[in-house]
Parts: sequence; structure tokens; C-alpha cells
Amino acid sequence: MNDTPTLSQRADALEEQMSRDLDLIVIRSRLYSLAEADFGPQPNANALMTKNPKARVLMGDDPRLPKMPDQPTLADFFKYRFGPAAHLLQSAKHALNAGLSDKMVLACLLHDVATIGFIRGDHGYWGAQLIEPYVDEEVVWAIRAHQVLRFYPDESVGYEYPQSYIKTFGADYRPDPYIEEDYKRMRDHKWYMSGRTITLHDIYSFDPNAKVELEEFTDVIGRAFKQPSQGLGFDNSPVAHMWRAMIRPAKYL
Ligand SMILES: [Fe+2]
Ligand SMILES: [Fe+2]
Repeated sequence: MNDTPTLSQRADALEEQMSRDLDLIVIRSRLYSLAEADFGPQPNANALMTKNPKARVLMGDDPRLPKMPDQPTLADFFKYRFGPAAHLLQSAKHALNAGLSDKMVLACLLHDVATIGFIRGDHGYWGAQLIEPYVDEEVVWAIRAHQVLRFYPDESVGYEYPQSYIKTFGADYRPDPYIEEDYKRMRDHKWYMSGRTITLHDIYSFDPNAKVELEEFTDVIGRAFKQPSQGLGFDNSPVAHMWRAMIRPAKYL
């Protein structure tokens, strides 16, 4: 017999303990699908409150996550919330070494920002929306486009369908019809080559030992990203709530 508790049992025990020790009930964010799969079903807030009548659901900062500054900057999100960012940093470094403009280096730096901080599915669309109020519209367009253009080769610039996609999605995978339709529209757009440029620097087989620091892009971010003075999430922009969702992903309401 194996008496080792499963991950799900340990998660339940941790939740019960938090409910007891902190009088805090923490639901799981639907944003983080991996955690959902790892930790099984949602805790039952009502049952936990019955066990510990003093317990309350999480409406403030999440004790499991590093505290964020009151007026968080893009760099703070990289530091405190975004998952391993090596791919983005290396992609941006690749673009910088190629002598690209601030706009395109920033586009490479942020192209997968949704994947590492928000939502994976349709990540190019989400990522573009997240940064729309703060960057040049060409950057937004290019990040949205990379989602689509990754699936389509362009011999004129030496871009081939990624080998990794054959492995990851299967050789018979075909993009969804909405991707196909977007591709047709994007192919003729004046900024097509900006979106394509991201795909050229969207490198997967980078040197795992090449360490790139965010600080190398402080100047580029300063010139090309309009940081709101109130902080991301608190500037009353149409996307502020999306940044707040990353600050407190498991807020009850
Ligand atoms: Fe991407
Ligand atoms: Fe990427």
C-alpha cells in the first residue's frame, strides 16, 4: 500500500490549513489551467467556512504570491508574476543583435506575454490586447499577427513551418478556420512584415546557457512602452482589469 498523499490530497490539506491558520479560503484561478489540472477540483468555500466560521474568501493580496508594488510597472510584472521569461528575453536579444528598431525589439520582448502571464489559447490576440494602450499600434498588430503567421511559411524571408509544431501538434494538424481567414487578411496588410519579423526572432532552439536580463531592455521599454503613472492595473484603461487579474489571479470576486 502506498500511503503517500496525492498532489490533490496535499492541495486539499494545504487549503484546509490556510483556512484554519489564516482564516482565508483561496479559490483557484481559472486562468491557470495547469494548476487546475494539478490540484483537482475547487475547494468548497461553504464547507471550509463551516469548519472554520472565522474564515473568509480571498479578496485581497494572495499570500502564495509575491506582493506587488502599488503602482506596478511592466518590469514588476516580469519580476513578480511572469513565468520563466527566457524565451522572450532571448527573442528580444536576437532582435536587438539584428539591429531592429525599438518598436520591433519591444514586440519581440512582449510577443508571448500572454503565454507566460495570462492565457495560452489565442495568446497572440490576448497579448496584443494587454499592451494596446501602452505601445505603438504597429507593435499591437505585429504581436496579434505572430499568432497566425507562425503557422505559415514565407520562403521570401526563409521562414519555414516550425519543426516543433509537427512534434507538438502532430503532422496532420491544420490551423482553425479563423486563423486561416486572419492569415489571408494579414498577408496583404501594410505591417505584414512586422508580424513576420516576430516569427523570425521567435526562436526555440536558443542557447540555454545564454542568460539575458530584463535590464538590458530598460531603455527600449522606457522609449517604446508608455508606462501609466498609476501603475498597470490602476490606470482606468480598457485593459486595466486584465492586469489586475494577473496581480490577484484567485480573487474571489
Ligand atoms: Fe507566440
Ligand atoms: Fe514565442
